[in-house]
Amino acid sequence: MKYAIETTQLSKKIQLKNGQSLSILHDITLQIPLGSSVAITGASGSGKTTLLGLLAGLDTVSGGDIKLLDTSMVDLTEDQRAALRLGQVGFVFQSFHLMNNLSALENIMLPLELEKSNKNPQKTALKALEQVGLSERATHLPTQLSGGEQQRIALARAFVNKPKILFADEPTGNLDQATSTDIEQLLFKLQKENDSTLILVTHDEALAEQCEYHYKLVDGKLVNNV
Ligand SMILES: Nc1ncnc2c1ncn2[C@@H]1O[C@H](COP(=O)(O)OP(=O)(O)O)[C@@H](O)[C@H]1O
Ligand SMILES: [Mg+2]
Repeated sequence: MKYAIETTQLSKKIQLKNGQSLSILHDITLQIPLGSSVAITGASGSGKTTLLGLLAGLDTVSGGDIKLLDTSMVDLTEDQRAALRLGQVGFVFQSFHLMNNLSALENIMLPLELEKSNKNPQKTALKALEQVGLSERATHLPTQLSGGEQQRIALARAFVNKPKILFADEPTGNLDQATSTDIEQLLFKLQKENDSTLILVTHDEALAEQCEYHYKLVDGKLVNNV
């Protein structure tokens, strides 16, 4: 396998309540090599989150083809797409998305428990916690952690099963400058250590520059920004 993701003339339209349709993305053709890092930038409302949702198979396309890890997703059901993602795809969001009723360690264990193939989820999760420098916080709840710490836990959870692809949607959007820099460095470190493909949505041009490929969304189309 050569590519993590391949799309051909991908499009996304949304049916509005007044009967009209809104074209959000069109004619998106791209290939993302396995193990590479890709930044997607664009103005607010340009369709970045929508595109990430399509690439990850969370949402369905209106036209075109999309392959995730060599499997075309256009004819798959939601359950089949979820099965394809299981153990292979991780996510990090702007707003952390941790489970507030679970401890830091339990949050990190979640993907391993879903996947069921890990014999000792707690041990693996403790190692992931150590990799993000928060070993002493294992039993803390998300509400007892700062924003930066919560995002570290989210990163540990996203990488705990060594995903082939890691999607990050503005992962530093809710953090101050110094914390953002820490999280960015950690993100690239974990990508390398886990040999993952990184697909990163950001409006931080400096962060985008650190990726191997940089695309920009303009009027629903993707332009190569290098
Ligand atoms: N379910 C939806 N219904 C109507 N409009 C939507 C829907 N989802 C997204 N949009 C619109 O599509 C555009 C792109 O949204 P989004 O992908 O969230 O942009 P970005 O992440 O770049 O800010 C926006 O104009 C948004 O309002
Ligand atoms: Mg967005």
